[in-house]
Amino acid sequence: METQILKIENPKALTPEDYKKADIAGKILANGGLVAFPTETVYGLGGNGMNPSASAKIYAAKGRPSDNPLIIHIASLDALDVLADSVPDAAKALAKAFWPGPLTMIFKKKAQVPYETTGGLDTVAVRFPSDPTAQALILASGTYIAAPSANTSGRPSPTTAEHVFEDMNGRIDAIIDGGQVGIGIESTIVDVTEDVPMILRPGYITKPMLETVVGEVAIDPAIIDDHLMQGMRPKAPGMKYKHYAPKGELTIVEGTSENVVEAINAKVRVDLQAGHKVAVIATDETKGRYICPIVESIGTRVHEETIAHNLYDILRRMDELSVDIIYSESFSDGALGQAIMNRLLKAAGHKVIQS
Ligand code: TXA
Ligand code: MG
Repeated sequence: METQILKIENPKALTPEDYKKADIAGKILANGGLVAFPTETVYGLGGNGMNPSASAKIYAAKGRPSDNPLIIHIASLDALDVLADSVPDAAKALAKAFWPGPLTMIFKKKAQVPYETTGGLDTVAVRFPSDPTAQALILASGTYIAAPSANTSGRPSPTTAEHVFEDMNGRIDAIIDGGQVGIGIESTIVDVTEDVPMILRPGYITKPMLETVVGEVAIDPAIIDDHLMQGMRPKAPGMKYKHYAPKGELTIVEGTSENVVEAINAKVRVDLQAGHKVAVIATDETKGRYICPIVESIGTRVHEETIAHNLYDILRRMDELSVDIIYSESFSDGALGQAIMNRLLKAAGHKVIQS
């Protein structure tokens, strides 16, 4: 299959030409094809979420286990009436506060939502993205778009059209190139079928932000790092898989900045002597302090959004550089720390050392 590239000229405010491209892609989706597209979080791999065979194609293109359900993307609130069996008050309040935006909510599903899309579950994940291209595409398709992140299963999520191309060229009908996404990590997932809304995946919308709208919010105990290690089952099936892993062996080093730099340098010295190709994931604040030939800054601790924004790109760059050992600083301090470390720990297969 030849994968068509549709380039958006002005992703922040679409031009008439851009809308034409969204229309072309929307027709492909309406006819059961697959289109990758930008959202504010990561690129999605879209198919008609109401069409079981389109969902089956998504699983095949990603090499994704079929028990791992897809998020359905909408571009108007009335779509909820078609997809969700009931919309609790907490969900209405969260939608008002955070939609369109990087929040996914889990509802009891209506009968017409195919089990092929929900991985056999009686619930459905719904998200209303804020990205203008995503919205134009969903509206042009005339349906609701099931879209996982547009990476091959197990690889870092794509934050540019080039990342999507690496993984999906020849496997899908089209890629809409809307440039680099803003946030860089996937949406926060909240289960609103419980009395107390529960976070199933941390993201840009943090627990305190949710709590200002709906009061008490729980977090799925199974996604707390050491519980997952003990084999607890997360409520979002996708959270149990090893994810985002670069090919090189990644270790996270925790401790004070001073100790981390010293500990990583000591490790790097030994690894270089043994003939390894080694890289360090540092920050703008520390990048000058490492003795390693390859040091990549992930962003600045002063603006932790930069760290989320660059995370997946850096993990992919490690593969391009063909390094076999990677050391990364830890980023658990700020409001986004939980969301960032959730991804980084998975990428590292939970290998952490204290310095
Ligand atoms: O930001 C995002 O959410 C991106 C963009 C493309 O919108 N999408 C995304 O999709 O991250 P994906 O498929 O990579 O991750 C979806 C997660 C998986 O962990 C899946 O198990 C969970 O959502 N999920 C989907 N439906 C669910 C349901 N009914 N109940 C519990 N978890 C669900
Ligand atoms: Mg994913």
